[in-house]
Amino acid sequence: MTDNAAPKRLFVKTWGCQMNVYDSARMADVLAPLGYAPTQTPEDADMVILNTCHIREKASEKLFSELGRLRAAKEATGGRMVLAVAGCVAQAEGAEITARAPYVDIVLGPQSYHRLPEMVARATRAAGQVIETDFPAEDKFDHLPEVSAPQGPIAFLTIQEGCDKFCSFCVVPYTRGSEYSRPAAAVIAEAGRLVAQGAREIALLGQNVNAYHGEGPDGASWGLGRLLREIAGIEGLARLRYTTSHPRDMDDDLIAAHGEIPALMPFLHLPVQSGSDRVLKAMNRGHTASDFLRIVERLRGVRPDLALSSDFIAGHPGETEDDHQATLHLIERVGFAQAFSFKYSPRPGTPAAGAPLQVTEAEKDRRLQEIQELLRQQQHAFNRSRLGLRFDVLFTGPGRHPGQAAGRSPWLQPVHAATGTQSPAALAGQVLACEVVSAHPNSLAVRILDGKRSGDPPEQEKAAA
Ligand code: 5AD
Ligand code: SF4
Repeated sequence: MTDNAAPKRLFVKTWGCQMNVYDSARMADVLAPLGYAPTQTPEDADMVILNTCHIREKASEKLFSELGRLRAAKEATGGRMVLAVAGCVAQAEGAEITARAPYVDIVLGPQSYHRLPEMVARATRAAGQVIETDFPAEDKFDHLPEVSAPQGPIAFLTIQEGCDKFCSFCVVPYTRGSEYSRPAAAVIAEAGRLVAQGAREIALLGQNVNAYHGEGPDGASWGLGRLLREIAGIEGLARLRYTTSHPRDMDDDLIAAHGEIPALMPFLHLPVQSGSDRVLKAMNRGHTASDFLRIVERLRGVRPDLALSSDFIAGHPGETEDDHQATLHLIERVGFAQAFSFKYSPRPGTPAAGAPLQVTEAEKDRRLQEIQELLRQQQHAFNRSRLGLRFDVLFTGPGRHPGQAAGRSPWLQPVHAATGTQSPAALAGQVLACEVVSAHPNSLAVRILDGKRSGDPPEQEKAAA
């Protein structure tokens, strides 16, 4: 073993979206050949990576307070610990990080992860900070090693990055750069490897995943619908999802795919942000509330059991009480299975941050609470509507209590079941027909239907009724 590959411990802390979770795993993959293996605490680590998120407020405060704690841990190692800041805060505030925290060794943006080994070498060879926040011309995916085995039966696969939509409030186009789609062949090959390694469900990821337009093996540009059809054909794959989408990119073929691909789960996260056309215009969303309702109607037309999730922002600059009521109205019309909602927070450098008519904190708080209360009621009602239904559950491993297995419903609800004489761990990766015995605000309790092993009929036994 060369000195380079001597065993070392790597601790990665991740904030933010699934994309960051995926990126953290890829950073660990890229460092494995240098001898880095994961550890659970930063104190005993030879290298610490903080993978940051810049989407909402307090991102940099959180980062600097974490760095303050790590500084002591680094000093305790005689300064040998390599400290890296990655992700979108690194991309947006690289210079401030190096100035305020000179003990940070590496600052790298999301497009530079494939360069980590070289950066670690530079940081450990010479004293001084190494910073990489360009958007390099080469494709990082071409330079990353093959994915390591998925952690459980659910695997994530990034197929698209970046965004060209420039919503008024959002930092993503600045931190992740412009839209880029990986070639379909590379994605399909990676999906095949994940399934061969035990994945039963794959979630395709992208900031604007349904804007996917990768080059197909035939040289033509493939949309997401076509890619989903191809991946759904991989033997052994039971379930397919994709996130996060934009209403503008729900094209005809993608909507049709929801009706045609049984493995494509009947659940879609489709952020709408507001129910007011005035606010949607100010947000530069490029669609109206009725465009969104029409998409939902078409999706439910082809897949009647489809459930929806969304994102909402309370108090975008210029939002009036009427606009807020329009958002509540849209929520009532659609009926969401779950959703995320946020108080508008000005992100430096975005158009909305400098806009007039900022809404007061107190007003944003009240509007957010009203949105969240309605969404909470809808989520509970949706869970209750599953009571007595039978459908497939993908089990992921042991539940919180002994003798209990945890899994996911087709609608992404957390599910738990008593396993009787079977070990809960042994159920991981199995798709079993179950019946809902009780519904809770955030989860379902199910009974495994004996002798019924599923994967054959689609999950819609009664749910579509
Ligand atoms: N303020 C509040 N919420 C935001 N989001 C993005 N930027 C902001 C912001 N400046 C929310 C949007 C987006 C989700 C990922 O985060 O709802 O869909
Ligand atoms: Fe941000 Fe809008 Fe792009 Fe989504 S579509 S990443 S909210 S700019």
